[in-house]
Amino acid sequence: MQENGYKPGLEGVVAAETRLSHVDGQRGELIIAGQRVEALAPQASFEAVVFLLWNGRFPTPSEEAEFVADLASRRQLPAATMQLLTAVAPQQTPPMDALRMAAATLDLDSPTDNRALATTLLARMPTIVAAYDRLRHGQQPIPPDPALGHAANYLQMLDGKRPSAARSRALETYLNTVVDHSLNASTFTARVIIATQSDMVSAIVGAIGALKGPLHGGAPGPALDMVFEIGTLDRAEPYLRQKLEAGERLMGFGHRVYKVRDPRAEVLAIAAEHLFEADGDKRLYELVKGVEKTAVSLLAEYKPGRNLQTNVEFYTALLLNGIGLETALFTPTFAIGRTAGWIAHCFEQLENGRLIRPSARYVGAYPTVNEGTISR
Ligand code: COA
Repeated sequence: MQENGYKPGLEGVVAAETRLSHVDGQRGELIIAGQRVEALAPQASFEAVVFLLWNGRFPTPSEEAEFVADLASRRQLPAATMQLLTAVAPQQTPPMDALRMAAATLDLDSPTDNRALATTLLARMPTIVAAYDRLRHGQQPIPPDPALGHAANYLQMLDGKRPSAARSRALETYLNTVVDHSLNASTFTARVIIATQSDMVSAIVGAIGALKGPLHGGAPGPALDMVFEIGTLDRAEPYLRQKLEAGERLMGFGHRVYKVRDPRAEVLAIAAEHLFEADGDKRLYELVKGVEKTAVSLLAEYKPGRNLQTNVEFYTALLLNGIGLETALFTPTFAIGRTAGWIAHCFEQLENGRLIRPSARYVGAYPTVNEGTISR
């Protein structure tokens, strides 16, 4: 902490009260709406987790069925959104940029009631990502299938194949794991925007922009590239040492809050192990495990006292690759899950919040000449 209460990066500053999620960085714990992530993520449906976040309790079976059906009925994109995606695809606009642009159009035909708008926004995120992915590969988008849940429908819209139960479950576990994480950068962004009494679409678009950066949600792609570049475990140590000697950061390691292993890394590692056993190349799983061990020990050597441990992004890369997603889809898929958390924080901010407006310590010059004259 510096003089005048200034905390660079707002580290440790409590800027909201929330019932949505609790992160204990020393103990490596994540509680989502009263449930431990380790128990919640692999067992619940994504729709049940969203209901829990938005309503503060689990749905009854009939409420869950109703919510699943409501969400499924809202997936179709406005014609203008599809035209936009079609127009930007030939330029190979990165998928996160396309998602940001398309999300901004989602209130063109949507209800103004915040609850209904929120459900529509959540429902349409996978449709945007999948439609754009197909368009940028020169393929026709696949219409959503109302018979499938949120996760399975996303996978089917990507490749046109009915996903196996193992793939759908793995994706659902991933979406649940990343659904909310306290006042992270993108959630904070959403809260700042909605706190001005702007609108939910603006809040989600801002959050997508914040998530895109490699220090937040953009890390899993580079983390996987790194593992592929390493290739075999014997190359891990020289490769990682060289990166650290060059002052580079190892993607998928380190966290502002967690000073022990990110609990989400464990949930995703277990999900990846199940998936790779059922349906995948176990060698990649073994390589990732080995690279993790080497990286953590080298980070302790090069950055002593920093407690740099594995974060969620490292195993996101492995799991999403195992599910069959291209690297370019990793961050957009993170956004599909986190949208539910962003929306929950918007509801909470609207209920309890005040305008978020911190201060800055002025370190610039002061006028040196008399009042009324400009000092040059
Ligand atoms: N690899 C190498 N060094 C790292 C590192 C990493 N992944 N993460 C942090 N460090 C080092 C920094 O270089 C700095 O060292 P220095 O004091 O010798 O200069 C020190 O640890 C503190 O870094 P700082 O950037 O102040 O920490 P932070 O709390 O702001 O950073 C992250 C948190 C996540 C941004 C950071 O750990 C990072 O860049 N990780 C890699 C990207 C990533 O995986 N992002 C996904 C997060 S879920």
